[in-house]
Amino acid sequence: MVNVTTAHTRRNLVVGNWKMNGSRAANAALLNDLHAAGPFNGDVAVCAPFPYLADVALALQGSRVAWGAQDCSAHESGAYTGEVSVGMLAEFACRYVLVGHSERRAMHAETDQLVADKAKIALAHGLTPIVCVGETLAEREAGQTEAVVKRQLSAVIHTLAHCISQVVVAYEPVWAIGTSKTASPEQAQAVHAVLRAQLQAATEKAQHMQILYGGSVKADNAVQLFSQPDIDGGLIGGASLKAADFAAICKAMGSTRA
Ligand code: 13P
Repeated sequence: MVNVTTAHTRRNLVVGNWKMNGSRAANAALLNDLHAAGPFNGDVAVCAPFPYLADVALALQGSRVAWGAQDCSAHESGAYTGEVSVGMLAEFACRYVLVGHSERRAMHAETDQLVADKAKIALAHGLTPIVCVGETLAEREAGQTEAVVKRQLSAVIHTLAHCISQVVVAYEPVWAIGTSKTASPEQAQAVHAVLRAQLQAATEKAQHMQILYGGSVKADNAVQLFSQPDIDGGLIGGASLKAADFAAICKAMGSTRA
């Protein structure tokens, strides 16, 4: 296993991915309770469905919790019915945008290059793309985990060149998403170290980049995961929908880094 990192050089980050969940009332209650549970010892953000961004921005402005979207178009503007541009997201002060989530790769046939193009346009508008990579169960069982995540990240590295240091990377093994089958801290760390080494070959700032783990992160496994040297926080699906659960995961950051 490659371990090119010394811990304690990066801030932790926990991001909630609400996916296609919520309602205006439920979101207001969730954000209110989350605010009451903070502040947290690290960075926190929520990625909401597009129609809720105005509400979320209003609820969170002035707080320490940032917000973002779950996808964006790779185009600036034009005849792309149903798509949402990064310029629009910037109008709602989104700090982050997820790109290449496995659900988009699988259900919307997003290619590695499209994901890289989305990351590029996000950066051009001042948003931080959270680039998701991860293998399926079949790929893991075939011993292809490393090759798959490297291929996915490589497209982004080539497209962004020296700007790669400005992205957040999220390792989300597909078999761990929404399944309650979390990668063990050792399994996750092994892949994070591979990703860190790949980044290190591309940028001298790799040590400062945040690499998040996602896939069935819960309050009771977060501390162990976040304690790994190359795991800098998490991308949280189901557990981000309940304020108490999400806040407990956010608090797990505080106990793992100086
Ligand atoms: P779960 O936390 O529900 O497994 O989802 C992870 C995820 O896909 C976050 O983007």
